[in-house]
Amino acid sequence: MQISTNQSISPVTTEINKEGNLSIGGCDLVGLAKKYETPLYVLDETTLRSICKDYKEAFSPYKNVNMMYASKALCTIATSAILAEEGFGFDVVSAGEIYTVYNAGVDMKKVLFNGNNKSVSEINLALELGVGRFSVDNFLELALLNELAKSKNKIAEILLRITPGIECHTHEYIQTGHLDSKFGFDLTQIDDAVSLILDEYSNLKLKGLHAHIGSQIFETKVYHDEIEILVKELARLDEKFGLQLDEINIGGGLGVKYTDKDCPPSTYEIAGIIIESLNNSVKKYGIDFPTLFIEPGRSIISTSGVTLYTIGSSKQVPNGKKYFAIDGGMADNARPSMYQAEYTASVANKPDAEISQCVTIAGRFCESGDVLIQNIKLPNLEEGDILCVYNTGAYNYSMASNYNRVQKPAMVLVNNSQSDIIIERETLDDLISHDRIPDRLKK
Ligand code: LLP
Repeated sequence: MQISTNQSISPVTTEINKEGNLSIGGCDLVGLAKKYETPLYVLDETTLRSICKDYKEAFSPYKNVNMMYASKALCTIATSAILAEEGFGFDVVSAGEIYTVYNAGVDMKKVLFNGNNKSVSEINLALELGVGRFSVDNFLELALLNELAKSKNKIAEILLRITPGIECHTHEYIQTGHLDSKFGFDLTQIDDAVSLILDEYSNLKLKGLHAHIGSQIFETKVYHDEIEILVKELARLDEKFGLQLDEINIGGGLGVKYTDKDCPPSTYEIAGIIIESLNNSVKKYGIDFPTLFIEPGRSIISTSGVTLYTIGSSKQVPNGKKYFAIDGGMADNARPSMYQAEYTASVANKPDAEISQCVTIAGRFCESGDVLIQNIKLPNLEEGDILCVYNTGAYNYSMASNYNRVQKPAMVLVNNSQSDIIIERETLDDLISHDRIPDRLKK
C-alpha cells in the first residue's frame, strides 16, 4: 500500500545540513530561531502540498469528491491560500474562520459552515459572503437560518448534521459521532427535521447528510459503518419523502503519527475503504452515487508543522526526574495538558549527538501540568539549545492562548530555502490593545 505524508513524524524536507543542524524546507532551524526568536511555529509548504497531492490521488477513483479542509486545525490567510490553490474547499466553524478564508480570496461557494450553536451574526455573515453550504446541527438553527435567509431573500443550501451512533477509539473528548454527543440530530430526529424543511422552511434547500465520528482515528472500519448509515438514511428519506438527496459529508478524523507508537493508515488506505464502502452501500440500497464531501483537518496540516523552543533552566529532582524548561508550553500547545497527547522532538543544533539521557520537557507556564513531553530520550542539553518538536501544525496555534499574558509565537512558512512570516509574533502592545480602563480608575 502506498504510504502518505500523514504517516511521517517529521516534515518531508527534514534533513541535517552541512553545518550539522536540522533543516526544514532548506532553512536551517537554528538560523530561523535566531532570526525570528523562539517559540516559533515553522510550517513546511512542501509537506503541506504533498499531503494535498496524496488526498487528491487517493480519492481520484471516485468521481464526485469535494475536499473541504477543516480550518479549525489551523486557519491562517496564507495556509488558506495554499489549500485553495490545491483545490480544497473549507469547513469553517466561526465568523473568524469565515473572515480568514474570505480574506485569502477563497471561492465562498466552496465553504461549508459547521457548528452546534452558530450565532445570528455568524449566520448573517455567512449568508452575506455567499457561503456554499450550511451543515445544520439542530432544530433552533433550522428555524433561525430559514428566517435569516428569508430576510435576505436567499435560499440556504444545507446538509443535516446527524449523530450516527458510532464509537471510535480515540480520546473521549475528541469523539463526536457516538449517541451521547452534543453534535447533530439523533437518527430518530431526522424525519421531524426533514418534515419541517419540506413543509415550513421554504428558504432552506436540503442537499444531503453530514456526520463526523471523531478525530485522530486509526481504525478504518468506522468509516465503513458511517457510510453505510449515511447511505441507508438517504435511501430511507427517498422512500419516505420522495427526496433524492445527493450529497454525503463524512467529516474528517484521519490520524497522524506523533510518535513511533502511532500507526495511522495512509490516505490511500482510507480512501480505498471509503470508496469501496460507498460502492457497496449504494448498490445495497439502490441509490445513485452521491457527491462525497470529506473534511480532513489534522491529517492535512499537522505533519508540515514543527515548533522551535529554546532550552532554559533545568532541575534534577533528587532521585527523580530531570526537567528541562523551554520558553513555551501549554499556551502554544495545549494538547499534552488537555488530552495527554504525546510528542517527539530533536535538538536542532545537534541532531546527530549521542542520546545520553531521559528527560522531561517542561513548559514555562505557571502550572505543574504544563509539561510538554514526559520521558524523552535526548542528547546532553544545555541552556540555549534549540528544541524542535514535531507534528505541531494542527491544533497548536489554533488552540493557543495568552495564558500568563504571554504573547503568541510567530509562524513562518518555509520553502526552497526561503522563510516568510505568515503570523507575526504578538507584541506586548498587542496584549493590552483590548484593555480599557474606566475613567474613575485612571491616575
Ligand atoms: N469536521 C468536523 C465536523 C469536525 O468537528 C472536525 C474536528 C473535523 C472535521 C476535522 O477533524 P480532523 O480531521 O482534524 O480530525 N482539538 C482536538 C481535535 C478536535 C477536533 C474537532 N473536530 C485535538 O487537538 O486533538
